[in-house]
Amino acid sequence: MIYFDQNTRLIHLSTPKTSYLMKVTADGYLGHVYYGKRLEKAPSQDLLRLEELSEPSEKPGEKVSFLDNLPFEYPTAGVGDFRESCLDISSNDNVRGIELFYKGYQIRNTKPEIKGLPASFDHTDSNCETLSITLRDDIRQIEVELNYTVYSDLDVITRWAVIKNCSNKAFYIDRALSMCIDAELDDYSVLYESGAWAREHQIQFQKVKPGTIVTESVKGESGHESQPFLGLISSDCSEESGEAYGFSLVYSGNFLAKVQTNSFGMSRTVLGIHPENFRWKLLRGESFYTPEVIMTYSDAGLGGMTRTFHRFIHDHIIRSAWKDKQRPILVNNWEATYLDFDDKKLISILGKAKESGLDMLVIDDGWFRKSKSEPEGGLGDWLPVDNKLPEGLKPVSEAAIQNGMKLGLWFEPEMISEDSELYRSHPEYVLSFPGRRPAECRNQWMLDFSNPKVLELIYEKIAAQIKENNLSYIKWDMNRPICDAYSHYLPADRQGEVCYRHVLGVYQIQERLLKEFPWLLIENCSSGGARFDCGMLYYSPQIWTSDDMDPIERLSICEGTELIYPVSTMGAHVCKNRNDISGRNISFDTRGLMAMAGTFGYELDITAISADDISKIPSQIKLRKRLNDLVNKGEYYRIKSYRRRVDGPVGGISGNADCFELISEDRSEAAVWFMQPLAEPNQRSIRIKTRALSPDFSYRVIAVTSADAYFDNNSDGRILDISGIRGEELNNAGLCLKLPREDFTGILIMIEKC
Ligand code: DGJ
Repeated sequence: MIYFDQNTRLIHLSTPKTSYLMKVTADGYLGHVYYGKRLEKAPSQDLLRLEELSEPSEKPGEKVSFLDNLPFEYPTAGVGDFRESCLDISSNDNVRGIELFYKGYQIRNTKPEIKGLPASFDHTDSNCETLSITLRDDIRQIEVELNYTVYSDLDVITRWAVIKNCSNKAFYIDRALSMCIDAELDDYSVLYESGAWAREHQIQFQKVKPGTIVTESVKGESGHESQPFLGLISSDCSEESGEAYGFSLVYSGNFLAKVQTNSFGMSRTVLGIHPENFRWKLLRGESFYTPEVIMTYSDAGLGGMTRTFHRFIHDHIIRSAWKDKQRPILVNNWEATYLDFDDKKLISILGKAKESGLDMLVIDDGWFRKSKSEPEGGLGDWLPVDNKLPEGLKPVSEAAIQNGMKLGLWFEPEMISEDSELYRSHPEYVLSFPGRRPAECRNQWMLDFSNPKVLELIYEKIAAQIKENNLSYIKWDMNRPICDAYSHYLPADRQGEVCYRHVLGVYQIQERLLKEFPWLLIENCSSGGARFDCGMLYYSPQIWTSDDMDPIERLSICEGTELIYPVSTMGAHVCKNRNDISGRNISFDTRGLMAMAGTFGYELDITAISADDISKIPSQIKLRKRLNDLVNKGEYYRIKSYRRRVDGPVGGISGNADCFELISEDRSEAAVWFMQPLAEPNQRSIRIKTRALSPDFSYRVIAVTSADAYFDNNSDGRILDISGIRGEELNNAGLCLKLPREDFTGILIMIEKC
């Protein structure tokens, strides 16, 4: 998997189908030679083109042109490479410039942890090797260790850097990115995601051209608008063929992902912590660890890339004991009541939930706020408020115990309200520039998570509620971006560390919670899906995908999420009809079927919906439980896309329908979700070509428009039921499905080996 040729100083990392090559040049620079389809033999040409002359130099190897053209593994700033750099440093006397030369390497059969950060793991250490290459600037006495973990069970290589101060004085790291890939990308497009609140994870493509393409966040979180992810796809890339590279940062704060292309068609792709609002003071003898990047390459199109990410995240990022278990099917009171509830209302929801077969009540925002309408007060105190919960949460938690139900509670731990005891006693705990009132957002300010006292205090408050109320679950929300990033705890020369330390603080509290309460299910959330990333998945197996639960709006939101993250990680609830975001009228059946591709739960007032809708809940729960293994572990194939790619380079699957499949590893069962947003007039049956069914297996195919219809042979909602159809026919000729004449119709097609 890792081969270091001592003669040629060529380094070859290989996974089952990919190769990653680097080379130490005669001068000691570490060049990036190749990343892509696996090469069985070392290249016979000089792919670094070391001898080629570049303007304005008059001899090959003259430093400026040489450095500005060499494909670097970890470029540094200020000494002749004018492209985007990974590392820039400065010192108190304002000396800049750093140049790294090869010193040595080490190979280990383990996946090391990355101090203080979430990172991929290999619990058995049987599937990976890690290469650490040491580079050094002897003048500045700085060492950089470039680490590469090569996984042998999947086409994944991860990488991160460690910057060490070997000098006898402090210096500042002004940028420390995690990854650089220099390559020619003519005929490639950049794949990234954009979005906004209630429209997260929108897939975008942009053709690579001279100039730059950037996706980034400077909001202190991954953001609604962006994903700490970047892909590169060849012009012939389709869903299941062509080339797709994917790079995902295991980090949840400000990030920069950039593709910078020069006039010679050479592109530099970098990914890492955003240099804006970042400056880290490194004392002598200290080390700084960058977050890890997960890199994959597939020649089986976007689908190949997606399936690798799904498996990798499942096997090597998510640690939770809940990973493959049936998660509690919950009712959350947010869209049922918003802030206007009291203990009686919660207990009535709990009672109805018990009757309908649900497992858990989650009390969302408002249990600590005085106001019944406006989000104000109480953040930071985390004490139940008198006018809603006069006896605290006890009556509700006791009712949960009596009913054999679990209880979950919402927190927004990073926030503080002006109207709180915490603010009155510790105004210095708020991030704020001296002399300036910090900007409010939802009437709230950010706590200073770089202050260990704040972390301790918030941890204790959450832990107390978990213990007092026997909580099984917490929803960790974060509803505003970080600005006024000034800490009254840190000294002046460490103010550039605030945003990064904030993210470390979030990780630290969640890690501690999981240590003390290992069975606790955490669902991360950020005003919908503004912090949906591999960093948070290290602590919670599920993340709230979006506040937009309308099944039509969800099509593109989920498709973008599923492009990288496993279906089991997506928080998904059945919303009320005429939901508050889209106002659409969509049947309870369709809302139910579509939310099953995710964690599943209800977020509507189950004490007030129609008897007909309530009567459907038990079979929805039963069907979701039947689907559990497929949702948690099924292999994902996208068959049709509703909103994506009309203009994008990946053609062939867009149209007036959305469809994807999850299939078991042994091919004995699959579930296909199909959505018809608008019924078409004069329509014949449509064909759905399944993917990856075993050609020789014989299957029974049942297509239903409701959960009830899956359990009732005679239901009108059972629109197809055929037995004995072979996998080869379904994969190649497809399934002919007559669609109901009804807008917004969700269909679940169950395919079971018979
Ligand atoms: C944003 C979340 O996404 C919602 O689910 C809800 O918890 C609200 N915050 C509460 O303020």
